[in-house]
Amino acid sequence: MFIDTHCHLSKQYYDDIDSIIAKNKERGVERIIISGCELSEIEESLYYAKKYNDVYLSLGFHPSEVDKIENSHFKMLENFLGEEKVVALGEIGLDYHYGKENRLEQMKLFEKQLNIAEAMNLPVIVHSRDATQDTIDILKNHHVKGVIHCFSGSYEIAKQYIDMGFLLGIGGVVTFKNSNLPKVISMLDLSCVVLETDSPYLTPHPYRGQVNSSQYIPVIALKIAEVKGVSVDDVMRQTTANAIALFDF
Ligand code: NI
Repeated sequence: MFIDTHCHLSKQYYDDIDSIIAKNKERGVERIIISGCELSEIEESLYYAKKYNDVYLSLGFHPSEVDKIENSHFKMLENFLGEEKVVALGEIGLDYHYGKENRLEQMKLFEKQLNIAEAMNLPVIVHSRDATQDTIDILKNHHVKGVIHCFSGSYEIAKQYIDMGFLLGIGGVVTFKNSNLPKVISMLDLSCVVLETDSPYLTPHPYRGQVNSSQYIPVIALKIAEVKGVSVDDVMRQTTANAIALFDF
């Protein structure tokens, strides 16, 4: 069994969710975690977790939501996090890709949610884009474990996260032509890797141009297997075991 530890499942992206879930299972991707990280999609994510057996949730407020989040929303988030099948808080973090003007507000939103994760003893899914140093500095002040979602940094940065107890979420980027990730992964132990698609985004090669979904997890696993010189089965077993140990599901 493969696990997609990070995807976005919503009617905005897919016409027929039933057929997406069926296709995933055909490809051996039997368990998925939806990242519901915008105010508008949290309730829809909860609906799918109730409807489908092997759909789990990670809920939180993405840094792009920073201007929309008010104090009352944190209470609401805590209530949602108490729901059955919620296995993590996220994705949360820092994103300076489009500018740093709201850096302090983003940091505040990130820290508030890390405090909630600590209090509720939940792992976190961390989104960090062009913000590595701030992310590391903040995480060092919190006793949380979790996944660095869509990791694409250097070996040195990978080591820092791993030494802090984090796993690296590896997705379609590892299959891209100019990606540095294969080299980084070749130097890492598979005990610190989980698989993710971040679908509908980041479709792996050679399917780029199509809408991504969890069914492509084996394509990512195959690339990692090639890089590591092991079998796809080995990658599946190890990454699935890593995810189960972290999310406790
Ligand atoms: Ni995502």
